[in-house]
Amino acid sequence: IRAALEPGPLAGRHVIVTSGPTHEPIDPVRYLANRSSGAQGTAIAAALRDLGARVSFVTGPASVPVPAGAQVIRVETAEQMRAAVEAALPADAAVMAAAVADWRVVNGSDQKMKKTGDLPNLQMAENPDILAWLSHAPQRPRLVVGFAAETQDVTAHATAKRLRKGCDWIVANDVSPATGIMGGTENAVTLITDQGPEDWPRMGKDAVAARLAARIARELA
Ligand code: CTP
Ligand code: CA
Repeated sequence: IRAALEPGPLAGRHVIVTSGPTHEPIDPVRYLANRSSGAQGTAIAAALRDLGARVSFVTGPASVPVPAGAQVIRVETAEQMRAAVEAALPADAAVMAAAVADWRVVNGSDQKMKKTGDLPNLQMAENPDILAWLSHAPQRPRLVVGFAAETQDVTAHATAKRLRKGCDWIVANDVSPATGIMGGTENAVTLITDQGPEDWPRMGKDAVAARLAARIARELA
């Protein structure tokens, strides 16, 4: 009972977590999206909450239930997600676990598009990079953590991504279909910091989340 009443190491800290996919509408019944269940982001939010953090959980349309005890902000598109992250600032740390759609459709339709025999000619624009934007924002959290979902040369791509985006850490994972990680309950990640890459053993997404939250608590201590 005593332990349960003690404040956790993240008590008084505010952490923003993005999670799930974004949906970029094409018309009222169709959208462009990434594959993401939201499981890893949800587990991270719960683990941070368990260490005492106040968590703002900005989520796209995910298939897993939102974490209890977090302030949940539901969004659909990347632009909405960026605005919601901005509105949640300031924060001590941010973990960007969302699988943000890289492009949105700019010539979508308010009405359902009908098959006419001609193929639709969808025009795209690049979405704002929320992680890169936050890493350079005036109110940048002290610790900004990104993810990198890769299908090859995971460490090399993720190391380059960390520098390109300007975040502090990257949690990299191999999402090749052969790993069975996408949509599963386990994850095998490499944490990339300014000290280089660190391979973590394959473990449950909850265990990855607990280890990452503990690491964040140590960093903010
Ligand atoms: N991310 C983001 N906003 C975007 C795209 C990505 O915040 N518009 C974040 C993701 O939440 C993740 C990190 O950036 O934390 C890396 O996402 P990823 O898709 O791996 O990187 P990209 O820069 O989009 O590169 P690519 O998809 O070309 O590999
Ligand atoms: Ca991407």
